Amino acid sequence: MTKTLIRARLLTFIREPLTAEDHSSYRYEEDGAVLVEGGIIRASGNYAEIEPQAAGARLVDHRPHLLLPGFVDPHAHFPQMQVIASYGAELLDWLNNYTFPAESEFGDGSHAARIASSFLDEMVRQGTTTSAVYCSVHSQSAEALFAEAERRGMRIIAGKVMMDRNAPVTLTDTPQSGYDDTKALIAKWHGRSRLHYAITPRFAITSSPKQMEMAQALASEHPDLHIQTHLSENRAEIALSCELYPDCVDYTGIYEKYGLLGPRTLLGHCIHLSEREADALSDTGSVAVFCPTSNLFLGSGLFDYFRYRRRARPLRTAIATDTGGGTSYSMLRTMDEGYKVIAFHGEKLNPFASFWQMTLGNAEALSLADHIGTLDVRTDADFVVLDASATPVMRLRMERAETLAEELFVLQTLGDDRSIVETYIAGDPAKSTV
Ligand code: GUN
Ligand code: ZN
Repeated sequence: MTKTLIRARLLTFIREPLTAEDHSSYRYEEDGAVLVEGGIIRASGNYAEIEPQAAGARLVDHRPHLLLPGFVDPHAHFPQMQVIASYGAELLDWLNNYTFPAESEFGDGSHAARIASSFLDEMVRQGTTTSAVYCSVHSQSAEALFAEAERRGMRIIAGKVMMDRNAPVTLTDTPQSGYDDTKALIAKWHGRSRLHYAITPRFAITSSPKQMEMAQALASEHPDLHIQTHLSENRAEIALSCELYPDCVDYTGIYEKYGLLGPRTLLGHCIHLSEREADALSDTGSVAVFCPTSNLFLGSGLFDYFRYRRRARPLRTAIATDTGGGTSYSMLRTMDEGYKVIAFHGEKLNPFASFWQMTLGNAEALSLADHIGTLDVRTDADFVVLDASATPVMRLRMERAETLAEELFVLQTLGDDRSIVETYIAGDPAKSTV
């Protein structure tokens, strides 16, 4: 097997950085290297220490750029590539007027394949190496995404949405067909290559109680699978959900009733949770996924990151693009907007914590930190290489940057795809080759 030695400045996290001075929370190597073989990190650390193990290896030198574990995006909708930047609606109208018509086309396998390929191209262009992805209701859409991710050797989590009401007929399954199609997709794709299946009831409004029971059956038959859905994004959505499930105490109570909360459950948005609902997420280890560009774009509300993280019963959190309600595929752009939402609540997220959240923090939220999110030996060789001086504006700003924390903050605040020098998937360069 060929070995590759990648030389760069390295940054990887050990745990959440509590302040910008929390230096024991990360490892930084000014002259670092990762040794990769068979898609796996064999060694990482100081270049002079690693180099003797690299006899015969191909050498790639990214100095002076910064190499980190690839970004992780825990919530995105690949069938919404032609929905992004649709004007003027809040969530429920946005779904009905723009999103559902666009998703209706994904019964066509060739359309699904084209968009799946474009979606994964875009992830790679933005330095994102793993995403948790919603497909459309059609099995063909999940087939297309899994096939394309497998061809590229990418680790993704995905599932076809289950939705059997409150949507056009072209976009609904039934409790039984949603169960059967999900079951067949799990059998075919879950655990194959680097692919993971997520049971994906879209949200309470589009799933009948009978479909929720089917999702519950799937979850109990496959307890190792992720579950992804939406929760508490928009006031009208909350009111309608509670109306549709009058026996449930609140919106979270709906997913609780059907056994859908747990440490592998990813709940998009979670903006307007009561204390009872936050307790229910905390007690089950469910993950609240912050989607700042989407929440701002749709006018949904402001996620209170530190209220959730610092409460007596804290929540696990992640940060995600939520494209195409979200307005950028870039995790840097997403984190920049996240920083501003957090600032609105009177708090400042330190730059190390931002980059922890986009890498190890999100990997932990996906329960995948044994595979991704760090530069640890024996984990997947998925990397992003960043240039904080990628544009004239960034270059000028970097003339006055003196610390690593400042460099990270410049990347977060001013960076985008132009700052992504290279993206490695399983040890192979993927951005320069698309
Ligand atoms: N709630 C249910 N479906 C969706 C979706 O596609 N996007 C967002 N932002 N919220 C949802
Ligand atoms: Zn979403």
